[in-house]
Amino acid sequence: MGFSIFYVYHLVFKRLRSTFLEESYLVMSHHLVIFGGKICTAADSMFADIGIKDGQIVSIGRDLDRTGAEVIDATGKLVLPGGIDSHVHLSQPSGEGIVMADDFETGTRSALCGGNTTVMPFCLQERNDNLRGVLNAYHGLAEGQCYTDIAFHLIISNPDAQTLGQDLPALIAEGYTSIKVFMTYEALRLNDSELLAAFDVARQHGATMMVHCENEDAIRYLVDRHEAESRVTPHAHATTRPIAVEREATHRALSLAEVVDLPIVIVHVSNGAAAEEIRRARGRGLKVTAETCPQYLMLTANDLDGMDWEGAKFVCSPPPRDTTEQRACWQGLMDGTFDLFSSDHCPFRYDSPQGKLNPKGAKNFRFIPNGIPGVETRLPILFSEGVNTGRIDINRFVALTATNHAKTYGLYPRKGTIAIGSDADLAIWDPDLERTVHHADLHDGADYTPYEGRTLRGWPVTVLLRGKVMMQDGALVGKRGDGVYLNR
Ligand code: URP
Ligand code: ZN
Ligand code: ZN
Repeated sequence: MGFSIFYVYHLVFKRLRSTFLEESYLVMSHHLVIFGGKICTAADSMFADIGIKDGQIVSIGRDLDRTGAEVIDATGKLVLPGGIDSHVHLSQPSGEGIVMADDFETGTRSALCGGNTTVMPFCLQERNDNLRGVLNAYHGLAEGQCYTDIAFHLIISNPDAQTLGQDLPALIAEGYTSIKVFMTYEALRLNDSELLAAFDVARQHGATMMVHCENEDAIRYLVDRHEAESRVTPHAHATTRPIAVEREATHRALSLAEVVDLPIVIVHVSNGAAAEEIRRARGRGLKVTAETCPQYLMLTANDLDGMDWEGAKFVCSPPPRDTTEQRACWQGLMDGTFDLFSSDHCPFRYDSPQGKLNPKGAKNFRFIPNGIPGVETRLPILFSEGVNTGRIDINRFVALTATNHAKTYGLYPRKGTIAIGSDADLAIWDPDLERTVHHADLHDGADYTPYEGRTLRGWPVTVLLRGKVMMQDGALVGKRGDGVYLNR
């Protein structure tokens, strides 16, 4: 006889057991319960458990049913919404021979390990690109690669009839509801009439417009003067993009938005004068959302003055300013001028012919690719220097790093908060964990961090994406492809 009675018994038992387990999994109240932690949202803090089922938060309360559920003990920790970084550049073309240091795999891996569960990278339309074609290409690059959830913003640099008249309205209707435009970078910038035309499409179709405010003509004038005087080291990047260049463009962007009657987002504000323009525009009744970034709190133009061209590591636009402007940015975070704290992660390797030290960039600041890495250090920087110093409270921290991003870009309340029905995107923080930043411990594709050697207190230790543990006790356990594209 081929089968023994014992083998048949074993098969029947196995089938019954797995049916029982499947059914009990379906009827279990929770698949995972996080207990013992202090939950903090943008609105409130409370000691409570979080019950998770099918990737969503289904219960918040005391002593939740743990029958059959996995558990995470968060005693002594803070349980926060996973960070949302709504200003991240990945896999973007960045000039001839230049390659961005992060693709969707390494960039989102780094983001995750810094306590983020959603990032919003850009789909960059270059001057001759068809917008839909380029968007399809970005989807191809991201598909199956991400460790966090993602959603794209569209960068428009070719405001022709096809883009503004056809593709953009159709894409906005499909959920690509945020657009970035540049007032600088010769190859990408829009002039005033092009800005007005793009703003008008955003207004008509209900999209959110993000603006990079620096006056390209003024920069060009200063660059020419610097070159004529052979002032071409990395520090010239800061002196050719002074505050007046950003303040004027901020004022102009706000005024053009006022003409069109369009709410706008002013991204990566670096100084007090630009912040003041934003407050004044709000005073006139304009709806403005404003963003600042870690580099404007932690770095100054002196960092660009490094020996051996090391200053190239800090070249980004707008450039870091001075300690007075750092204080003005802190003030803006504290008083509500800024709604968003994003990384503007835009990584290039330093010691690479495809990065900061490309053959031309190693001789003249003009050819150093603009941008610095920071997606993994954004949250620990604001936690350490903002929350742990008492400048902002934990609820404001959550608003600045998660909730306001979700609200601004149409992801709320699925993302950005801890509420019943929201995705279980959570970061469990040890508020007292002290770590010194070393690039060797980070997870991006660059070869340096601008914050090397800085000691920060307060780090995420465990991160969950839609209920799945992705980082556990500081170790990456999630997989490439666990992150999905978020339709808005
Ligand atoms: O220098 C920067 N910020 N590079 C990224 C592109 C941008 O302007 O946001
Ligand atoms: Zn920008
Ligand atoms: Zn940027």
